[in-house]
Amino acid sequence: MPERFRETYGPVALVTGASSGIGLAIAEELAERGLDLVLTARRTDRLDALAERLLSSHGIRTTVLGCDLADPEAPARIVETTQGTDIGLVVSNAGFNVKGAFESTDAAAMARMLMVNCHAPMQLAHGMIPRLKARGRGGILFTASVEGLIGCPYSAAYSASKALVVALGEGLWGEMIGTGIDVLTLCPGATESEATAGMEGLANLQSAPEVAKLALDNLREGPTFVPHAHYREMFERLRAMPRREALAGMAEGMRRRA
Ligand SMILES: NC(=O)c1ccc[n+]([C@@H]2O[C@H](COP(=O)([O-])OP(=O)(O)OC[C@H]3O[C@@H](n4cnc5c(N)ncnc54)[C@H](OP(=O)(O)O)[C@@H]3O)[C@@H](O)[C@H]2O)c1
Repeated sequence: MPERFRETYGPVALVTGASSGIGLAIAEELAERGLDLVLTARRTDRLDALAERLLSSHGIRTTVLGCDLADPEAPARIVETTQGTDIGLVVSNAGFNVKGAFESTDAAAMARMLMVNCHAPMQLAHGMIPRLKARGRGGILFTASVEGLIGCPYSAAYSASKALVVALGEGLWGEMIGTGIDVLTLCPGATESEATAGMEGLANLQSAPEVAKLALDNLREGPTFVPHAHYREMFERLRAMPRREALAGMAEGMRRRA
């Protein structure tokens, strides 16, 4: 099994947002499976420390690329810099949220969020797919969110950004049939990470290592994958409801919690 995983998705995987949370856990799980890594984030000190740790624990080689994905040119630079590297798995995971009443969210932060959450995964996939296709095997893993599965009141902009990732991943899943490239759009619910640190009242928190392992075990089970049963059932129920009823109920629940 590990050998087959490495043959399909190795020898090298690229992971964005690998300095903490889900991306860090994915990098660790990939190292456990014997893949060399290209890791990106802004906090390169963390990536350097991780690279050293993974070299001594698993003997894998890591290239660290510092980049701010809010810069529209950053995805193209990643594609260009890794031109000579045989990347078999692209993990587009970096992202952040801007939440609260829509009109009170910061407009500049919202614009950066679109760059990081939407523009970066779209451009990275665009740059990397020709290389994956030429290999005839490999994968793309997008980290979206359950919030991308239905518009979420008081998280409207973030939810919209993740809906783009879900639609991108679903469309590409269809386009990649028969190419040997697996496309999985991961839709986590609440997951332990820097993004949820200090948030009160979060139920059904899943650990980042568990999300990472389940995502990599299910790379062939696209188009979308919700790693926690509670959120899988909850969002299936919401999506099956009349839309007006589902959205009014979610908005009411959020107002009660505030
Ligand atoms: N935690 C949850 O409950 C949850 C639920 C659903 C979906 N998600 C999604 O999961 C993904 C990972 O988030 P997380 O929960 O693991 O949060 P996290 O611990 O805050 O990690 C976010 C990662 O994204 C990177 N990143 C953020 N802004 C960036 C930028 N401008 N340029 C480059 N890298 C940037 C961060 O690296 P630097 O800060 O070092 O740049 C970090 O490595 C995100 O796409 C998030 O939307 C999370």
